[in-house]
Amino acid sequence: MDTTESLTIRPFDAGDRAAVIALWRACGLVVPHNDPDADIDRAAGRANSDVLVGVTPDGRVAVSVMVGHDGHRGWLYYVAVAQDARGRGHGRAMVAAGEEWLRARGVPKAQLMIRDTNTAVRDFYAGLGWDAVPRTVMERWL
Ligand SMILES: CC(C)(COP(=O)(O)OP(=O)(O)OC[C@H]1O[C@@H](n2cnc3c(N)ncnc32)[C@H](O)[C@@H]1OP(=O)(O)O)[C@@H](O)C(=O)NCCC(=O)NCCS
Repeated sequence: MDTTESLTIRPFDAGDRAAVIALWRACGLVVPHNDPDADIDRAAGRANSDVLVGVTPDGRVAVSVMVGHDGHRGWLYYVAVAQDARGRGHGRAMVAAGEEWLRARGVPKAQLMIRDTNTAVRDFYAGLGWDAVPRTVMERWL
């Protein structure tokens, strides 16, 4: 457990589910093809992945990141800070917590994807030392 200024960061537990999903929805991170329940089930508390939550002093789950690695690269998903908790360094702290989770497992590089509809957030990551990379991401539903 890691406590930053006014934020306690810890792994997701079962009682967080409703709050985490509400946070993701409120932050616009859930699109119709996402199933946040299934995403949590696959990622939380696994050997290669987890969901970390940030709890504000009022006991509210107001911050999140989903983190994992595939044996080669690490990935961050669902970086989210509740609207009324933004601008206090919680986003920075949670990205750092995700990076530390990966570093502790020997993963040398972290990546994340930003939707085309959310390019404004690039400057947030750039300010934390992340670089944009010229890659084409492809997908296929299995
Ligand atoms: C992006 C987000 C996580 C930032 O959270 P936050 O708690 O407000 O960020 P912090 O307070 O830790 O900000 C850290 C730094 O980034 C800057 N920053 C924050 N949001 C920014 C933005 N949208 N654009 C540019 N810079 C930003 C802050 O000014 C701060 O800079 P400083 O350290 O020089 O003062 C939050 O706005 C959010 O949840 N957005 C909606 C969900 C989302 O888009 N997630 C990313 C999906 S890829």
